[in-house]
Amino acid sequence: MSVMKVGVAGLGTVGAGVVELLVRNQAIVAARAGREIEVVAVSARDRGKDRGLDLGGVRWYDDALELARDPDVEVVVELIGGAEGTARALVLAAIGAGKQVVTANKALLAIHGTEIGGLAEAAGVQLAFEAAVAGGIPVIKALREGLAGNRISKVVGILNGTCNYILSKMRERGADFAEVLAEAQKLGYAEADPSFDVDGVDAAHKLAILAALAFGRPVAFHDVHIEGIRRISALDISFANELGYRIKLLGIARETPAGVSARVHPCLVPVGHPIARVEGVFNAVVAVGDAVGQIMLEGRGAGAGPTASAVVADLIDIARGRATPVWGAAAEALSAQPSVAIGALKGAYYLRLMVVDRPGVIADVTAALRDSAVSLGAMLQHERAPGEAVPVVLVTHETTEEQMRAALDRIAILDTVLEEPALIRIELG
Ligand code: NDP
Ligand code: HSE
Repeated sequence: MSVMKVGVAGLGTVGAGVVELLVRNQAIVAARAGREIEVVAVSARDRGKDRGLDLGGVRWYDDALELARDPDVEVVVELIGGAEGTARALVLAAIGAGKQVVTANKALLAIHGTEIGGLAEAAGVQLAFEAAVAGGIPVIKALREGLAGNRISKVVGILNGTCNYILSKMRERGADFAEVLAEAQKLGYAEADPSFDVDGVDAAHKLAILAALAFGRPVAFHDVHIEGIRRISALDISFANELGYRIKLLGIARETPAGVSARVHPCLVPVGHPIARVEGVFNAVVAVGDAVGQIMLEGRGAGAGPTASAVVADLIDIARGRATPVWGAAAEALSAQPSVAIGALKGAYYLRLMVVDRPGVIADVTAALRDSAVSLGAMLQHERAPGEAVPVVLVTHETTEEQMRAALDRIAILDTVLEEPALIRIELG
């Protein structure tokens, strides 16, 4: 069979990793693909940069869109990033030119995935994106193919390696947020704009993709409730530990009778749950299907090797002619289930306050909880500092988000509450 000729646009952490892996495992890849896979063209911004790659004999394009026009290129691999601009234009141009496309770009898929998937379907080309969610974990294949016979009720994941790395190192080393973020950037885990990582946007992009596949509906990124990890403090990590929890940034999507709820926010997870033990840059995805029950996949969610592993798997599928509808079903077969807002959520909450240590303070706080019908399960206060600030932790029984928010609005304006309260949802208990 003829060689499958590939053009790679973007030669950063992932792009360089893909070129390197295709060379290193050339024979294995060819055997599994049934044909040789060769990178014949590349594009990046800076031609002079040393990328540790031998690009001799490979065509270089300053303009990535030229890759899509190169008649010799059968598959375009988009590894530039970003929901708009060159990445989007390249993917559209490649589909328009009838080329197969592989991308790791979750931002693009979360925001334009329905449109782009429809165009790929109409053009009869593959749009493969295993690397876009959870790096090296084959979660797209698992949901779209391995679990295709199930009605899936829930998907929960640690979907951002940078955040999991930061939270893990803050707990293990007592390190501060900024120091660990800088490390994650150096290791190539973080997005070009790391606020996408720490503010939960990257995890929300990935959750929107997983929810579309799990529940068979168009991608609905703008309906995902998003909170990041900037406000997680060493104090909360330490209290969570004491109460038997880890703090994790989770993406949670569920099918409810009212529609699909999707949210990304920090959570307290019981230490006994397998997802609580997923540390560092590792990601994990738990899915619950009516036939299979619960499964959990775990692995490295970012970095050159794991992400290249997923991109190369997509290339092998394309070489073999293995074709699956982009969103698991044809565009007209996707469901129109509505999205459910966070206010309808029911769960337990961790609330940490900095209060003035004087008589009657807790009575005022618990009165606000009582008036919103929020029931308390536990309370912690260690220090005694009469007249000064002390941390107090309250853990609630199950309540609704609306009731909790109403109580919190009253608590936050008490003159004995000195800082904005920290509210973290308790999950998977
Ligand atoms: P990098 O920032 O490391 O690399 C981006 C590459 O794109 C660089 O080589 C850059 O060129 C090139 N580039 C930028 N603009 C253009 C342009 N206009 N035309 C041609 N090339 C351009 O990003 P990553 O490799 O980390 O990420 C790539 C994609 O993979 C993103 O969508 C990201 O979200 C996704 N991803 C990343 C993971 C990771 O662990 N890093 C994991 C999973 C997905 P130059 O080098 O010359 O500056
Ligand atoms: N910035 C992302 C992360 C890369 O930290 O998980 C993987 O998608």
